[in-house]
Amino acid sequence: MDIEKAIELVEANLTKGRFEHTLRVKDTAIQLAEQYGAPIDLVTIAALFHDYAKDMDKNELRRLIISYALPDDLLEYHHELWHGPVAAKIVEDQLQITNEDVLNAIYYHTTGRANMSLVETIIFVADYIEPKRSFPGVEDVRKEAKQDLHNAARRALKNTIHHLLDKDATIHPNTFFAYNHLTKTIGVKEV
Ligand SMILES: [Fe+2]
Ligand SMILES: [Fe+2]
Repeated sequence: MDIEKAIELVEANLTKGRFEHTLRVKDTAIQLAEQYGAPIDLVTIAALFHDYAKDMDKNELRRLIISYALPDDLLEYHHELWHGPVAAKIVEDQLQITNEDVLNAIYYHTTGRANMSLVETIIFVADYIEPKRSFPGVEDVRKEAKQDLHNAARRALKNTIHHLLDKDATIHPNTFFAYNHLTKTIGVKEV
C-alpha cells in the first residue's frame, strides 16, 4: 500500500493524540529498521496500522474478535490487548494487506510472542520507546535499543510483566512466551 494513502486512512480512523503517537512509532521504527537492517517499507506499514483499532469501542472490538474467529481466550484478558489482533484482521480483510510479517507485527504488538521476527520486534520496541513515552524504565529500554534490539525487547517485556504484577493484573501467556524465548536465546545482559 502507498504510504500517503496509509497515512490518510490512519488519520481518519484515530484520534489526534493516537495519530500523533502512530507517527512517532513510525519514525522510531524506521530508525530501528535502518539500524538493524529490516525492510523499511514493511516496518512503515506495520507501524502506521499497529493501533488502527485502538480507538474502537470495547463492545465493537469484542464483536470483531468473535466475527473474525480470533482465539476467544483473548476475551478473558484485558481489553487493552484486543486492538492488535483486531487491527491485523481489519487491514487484511478491508485493506488487502497480505504480508505475514506486517500482519504479525500488528497482531502481536500488544502482547509480544515467542520467536518474534525482526519486523515484529522493531514494532514492539518502537511502540514502547517512542519519544513521548515516559513510564518508569523506558529510558533503559531506549538505551538498550541503541545497542541490542533483542535485549531492548526483553527489557520492555520484563518491565511490562513487573508493572502488571504490581497492579495484580492478569498477564497474557504470549507475554511470558516472548520473555522466556528472549531470555533463553539471548541470555541476560543488564545495562
Ligand atoms: Fe497498541
Ligand atoms: Fe501504539
